[in-house]
Amino acid sequence: MARQSDDHAVLHRLMQQYEAAPDDEARGRIVADLAQRALRHAFAEETVLFPAYRQHLPGHGDELTAHVEGEHQQINDLLEELQDADPAAAGYDDRVRRVFTLIDSDAREEEDVMLPRLQSVVDDEELRTIGDAWEAARATAPTRPHPRVPRRPPGNALAALPLAVSDRIKDGLDRLPRGARRVSSAAVLALAACGGAAVAAGVRRRRRRSVRAPRFGLRR
Ligand SMILES: [Fe+2]
Ligand SMILES: [Fe+2]
Repeated sequence: MARQSDDHAVLHRLMQQYEAAPDDEARGRIVADLAQRALRHAFAEETVLFPAYRQHLPGHGDELTAHVEGEHQQINDLLEELQDADPAAAGYDDRVRRVFTLIDSDAREEEDVMLPRLQSVVDDEELRTIGDAWEAARATAPTRPHPRVPRRPPGNALAALPLAVSDRIKDGLDRLPRGARRVSSAAVLALAACGGAAVAAGVRRRRRRSVRAPRFGLRR
C-alpha cells in the first residue's frame, strides 16, 4: 500500500512547511492544502480500506477501525472550525497542531498496525484491487470537512457524490476574484445535484472500463 505511505509523507511535509511558513497568509494556504488532501485521503480509507480490513480481520478489525474513524471525526470537526478562520486569530495555531497530532497518530496506526496485518492475510492481487479502489474513492471524494456525514459506508458514500461536486464548485469559486463569486446558493445546489448524477455515471463507466483496462499500479 505504497500510495497510503506516499500520501502520509505529503501530509507530513505540509506540516513541516507550516512550521517554517513566513506569515499568516502562507500558514492559511498550507492548512487549506493539507485539509483537502487529508479529507480526501481519510474518505478513501473509510470507504475502501477500513471495510476491507474489517472483512479480512474480523477478530480485531472493528475495534481498530472504530478508533481511527474517531480520529477522522475529530479531524473533520477541527478542520470545519478552521476552514473560515483567520490564521492570525487566537486559537488557530492550537487547533492546527491538534490536527497535526491526530494525523500523525492516524498514520502510525495505519502504517505500523493496520497495513502490515492486512498485507499478512491478503494476496498481492487483492491488495492491488484495494489500492485501485482506494485511489478511485480519493479521486471523487469531498474536499471539505463534513463532520455530520457518517464515517462508514454506505452512509458516507451516498452523501459523498453531491458533496464532492458542491465542494469542487466552491473550490472553483474560491479561486475566482472576489467580485466574480456572486453565484446563488440555489444555483450551486442545482449544479451539485446535476454533477452528482454525472459523477455517479462516471464512476459506473470507470468500473466498467476497469474490467477491461490493465490495473494502474501502486502510484499516487
Ligand atoms: Fe486515516
Ligand atoms: Fe491514512
